Amino acid sequence: MPIRIEFIADDGQHRSIDATEGKSVMWAAVDNGVEGVVADCGGTLTCATCHVIVPAEWAARLPPPGSDELAMLDMTAAPREPGSRLSCQLVVTPELHGLTLRLPATQY
Ligand code: FES
Repeated sequence: MPIRIEFIADDGQHRSIDATEGKSVMWAAVDNGVEGVVADCGGTLTCATCHVIVPAEWAARLPPPGSDELAMLDMTAAPREPGSRLSCQLVVTPELHGLTLRLPATQY
């Protein structure tokens, strides 16, 4: 069964992808050419250019950010929001089917 994740760009464009279980949401986005997820560091938690915003209804269904992710969330180019996460730290699981993520206006 596909694990569908939707990205909403800052200009309102929607993009749905089928993500692979066990990969990060960042790699799912990059592999599917989702513009707006840059991921300069390739998932090593040193760039903050994989910033996404999780809607409140989904936030509690995701594992909470670790201390390293929380520290890097201070480095996002766009203002940090309550639902801000780094998508390289979100692992795709079947429970994420239907997840909708908002993309920030900029990653730089
Ligand atoms: S890809 Fe660099 S912090 Fe996520």
